[in-house]
Amino acid sequence: MGNFLVTWLAALKDSLCAGQGLFPQGSVNGAEGGTAMFITNLIPPAQPFIKISWTVGGANIITSPGDDSIGPGYGDRITLNKTTGSLELRNLTLADSGEYRVSITTATAETINGSTELVVYENISDANITGPSNNLFADWSSANLTCEAAGNITTIQWTKEGQPLSAGGNILFSEENRKVSISPVKRHDNGEYVCKLTNPASSATASYRMIVNYGPESMTILGRHIAEVESFTLIYCSVQSVPPATFTWLFNGQKTGVHEAGYIIRSVSYNNSGDYRCDARNDLTENVVSMGHSLSVKGTEGAAGIAVAVMLVVVAVALGLYFGITHHR
Ligand SMILES: *[C@@H]1O[C@H](CO)[C@@H](O)[C@H](O)[C@H]1NC(C)=O
Ligand SMILES: *[C@@H]1O[C@H](CO)[C@@H](O)[C@H](O)[C@H]1NC(C)=O
Ligand SMILES: *[C@@H]1O[C@H](CO)[C@@H](O)[C@H](O)[C@H]1NC(C)=O
Ligand SMILES: *[C@@H]1O[C@H](CO)[C@@H](O)[C@H](O)[C@H]1NC(C)=O
Ligand SMILES: *[C@@H]1O[C@H](CO)[C@@H](O)[C@H](O)[C@H]1NC(C)=O
Ligand SMILES: *[C@@H]1O[C@H](CO)[C@@H](O)[C@H](O)[C@H]1NC(C)=O
Ligand SMILES: *[C@@H]1O[C@H](CO)[C@@H](O)[C@H](O)[C@H]1NC(C)=O
Ligand SMILES: *[C@@H]1O[C@H](CO)[C@@H](O)[C@H](O)[C@H]1NC(C)=O
Repeated sequence: MGNFLVTWLAALKDSLCAGQGLFPQGSVNGAEGGTAMFITNLIPPAQPFIKISWTVGGANIITSPGDDSIGPGYGDRITLNKTTGSLELRNLTLADSGEYRVSITTATAETINGSTELVVYENISDANITGPSNNLFADWSSANLTCEAAGNITTIQWTKEGQPLSAGGNILFSEENRKVSISPVKRHDNGEYVCKLTNPASSATASYRMIVNYGPESMTILGRHIAEVESFTLIYCSVQSVPPATFTWLFNGQKTGVHEAGYIIRSVSYNNSGDYRCDARNDLTENVVSMGHSLSVKGTEGAAGIAVAVMLVVVAVALGLYFGITHHR
């Protein structure tokens, strides 16, 4: 057990001397104009370090203590934590990218060396999606969406209505995800497209609302075929269309002046019986679809109504019997 600990400590010391282990694996990422932190994993010692020296590409950043000599250009940009050797570097420029080395001399005159890489990225800005400026028609048009931005871009991801957009079917990605080609566009391709551009230090998004025109189609008419006199009656024309369809209602072949989806009769009269027709037109696709609906108006179901109904049944049965018997003969 004791042996193991000694071996482990020796290994730790070796790795620290070789510059590994003092910093987490991987590079430190910073944004231009932002701040980078080089954080050592050293526990503040009981006795202060004798010397801490930070360099980049061989050039001095700071050597402490003594006169705390600070390299040119770092005067108001750095803060050194003398108990851990960690360094903060502010107001980063692309030129700050490089290999940063620290050499620490402990109170027991041991040297701990470490190094880590700083990569400074330009912030991503002015993100924008360019898409088609012409009208798109379902199953007919195709569309290219291109995501552009300034700055260092490492990845681009697309979403549609908040869901990841994936290739396949009519969707193709190209130019390292910068471009989405949809060919042909389908009605379900309608929606809000967002591209998210990222680098390890910043990200930006842009969005584009795509409108795919289609229809009118899937027409149905909702409403009763038999209405009681003086009742409120609604016949509703339902259709799928982008942009929304404009409606025209005809009654027995005559224009009614009604251009809403719903044809409303507040109080039905006998003369409202007849054939209704709904014409739905999409002004962009220039398609028109039509459907008819018949309405017959009957008297209120009072005692008289029931009497008439009973009489009709009696007559019908009598006629049925008569024709049944005559046919049998
Ligand atoms: C640590 O780095 C300094 C220069 O930065 C070098 O002189 C020294 O030999 C190194 N020590 C070890 C143990 O690697
Ligand atoms: C880049 O982004 C960082 C973090 O958001 C910010 O501190 C910095 O000022 C930005 N740089 C520029 C040049 O806008
Ligand atoms: C140095 O870092 C240690 C550990 O992160 C922290 O506790 C301490 O306050 C820091 N000292 C200064 C002067 O920032
Ligand atoms: C950051 O650096 C730029 C030039 O590199 C300088 O013009 C600007 O004043 C600096 N900003 C701060 C807050 O130090
Ligand atoms: C995006 O690009 C288009 C075409 O280049 C331009 O008209 C539009 O103003 C840009 N939008 C933004 C937010 O930059
Ligand atoms: C989309 O881009 C491709 C090339 O990547 C081009 O062949 C096609 O014509 C473009 N389609 C439209 C609608 O602009
Ligand atoms: C960021 O872009 C600039 C110029 O566009 C380039 O000089 C630099 O190497 C790029 N940095 C990274 C980390 O890709
Ligand atoms: C239908 O009948 C009502 C009265 O029942 C009347 O007011 C209306 O003018 C009639 N409409 C037509 C088109 O004949």
